[in-house]
Amino acid sequence: MKGKKILVTGAGGFIGHHLVKYLKKKDYWVRGVDIKHPEFESSEADEFELLDLRQEANAFKAAGGVEQVYNLAANMGGIGFIETHKAEIVRDNILISLHMLEAAKQNKVSKFFYTSSACIYPGYKQDSPNVTPLKEEDAYPADAEDGYGWEKLYTERACRHYQEDYGLPTYTVRFHNIYGPLGTYDGGREKSPAAICRKVALAKKEDQIEVWGDGNQTRSYCYIDDCVEGIYRLMQSDYHQPLNLGRDRMVTINQLVDIVTNISGKKITKRYDLTKPQGVRGRNSDNTKLRNVLKWEPKTSLEEGLVHTYKWIKGQLKV
Ligand SMILES: NC(=O)c1ccc[n+]([C@@H]2O[C@H](COP(=O)([O-])OP(=O)(O)OC[C@H]3O[C@@H](n4cnc5c(N)ncnc54)[C@H](O)[C@@H]3O)[C@@H](O)[C@H]2O)c1
Repeated sequence: MKGKKILVTGAGGFIGHHLVKYLKKKDYWVRGVDIKHPEFESSEADEFELLDLRQEANAFKAAGGVEQVYNLAANMGGIGFIETHKAEIVRDNILISLHMLEAAKQNKVSKFFYTSSACIYPGYKQDSPNVTPLKEEDAYPADAEDGYGWEKLYTERACRHYQEDYGLPTYTVRFHNIYGPLGTYDGGREKSPAAICRKVALAKKEDQIEVWGDGNQTRSYCYIDDCVEGIYRLMQSDYHQPLNLGRDRMVTINQLVDIVTNISGKKITKRYDLTKPQGVRGRNSDNTKLRNVLKWEPKTSLEEGLVHTYKWIKGQLKV
């Protein structure tokens, strides 16, 4: 519906920035909030405020006068970051999310959106590269990724409690590896597609790049345009349980490197570093519920999405 006032937290980050652009195209009035401005281009938000949402008063300020809250703000990064900053991640993100839930409730917003993660799924379901795709109900009995995964799972439940006890309509997605242009590609917080695109872009015509682990670990990847469309579709639905939002095509990290190598036109060999963190052995999204609930699913192929991502990262490295 046009004219509604929306708050996007984490609007200086990768997905939040794309989401603001998407909502502006749909003619919403948008306030973006973050502790930083978007890194690569200006925000299209009608208002952009620098606020640290670990402070409760800032959360109330952020949610003032809006009708919907999309809460994406989080202290996070790729596997290298989340395995080495557990206390910081847990503290920051629980504070942000609980403050935003309370501020949304007290401001009587009509919808609250929360971004959970595939990292909430139990380790015991992901110990082989040939993993069975993860269904929403596989989350329990819980054995989430230490730190980041437990914090996300706890906040999913907090959303449920706020809906059940206070009538705040909450919507929760579990993202599976979102990638695309304007995402972090260096500095330690980048995820595997961006890291691989960067390494290949920096490589010579014939070269070797480092791969974390043995390259046989598997994942599925979802392009950013599909991600923001999925978020929007969920927010138009009346579905309030956590829902997978990802693609269900599983590839090994080796295959991911090969796809990027093909795009680059270079000759790249791989050098494996088994001392680097590689996360669970295999992970894929079961999209049965996504298809049933939204009558839709992500459509961008990995090859197409990586062409856009590789070109953008290569361009950035030239700048
Ligand atoms: N990208 C993925 O593949 C993925 C997967 C699963 C879940 N998620 C979740 O989706 C959301 C968005 O992820 P993203 O990839 O855009 O990450 P991102 O790091 O690019 O964006 C998160 C933003 O939150 C901001 N932030 C951190 N601490 C803050 C604070 N105290 N106050 C205000 N803002 C703060 C950061 O500055 C950053 O701009 C996060 O909640 C993340 O956990 C992302």
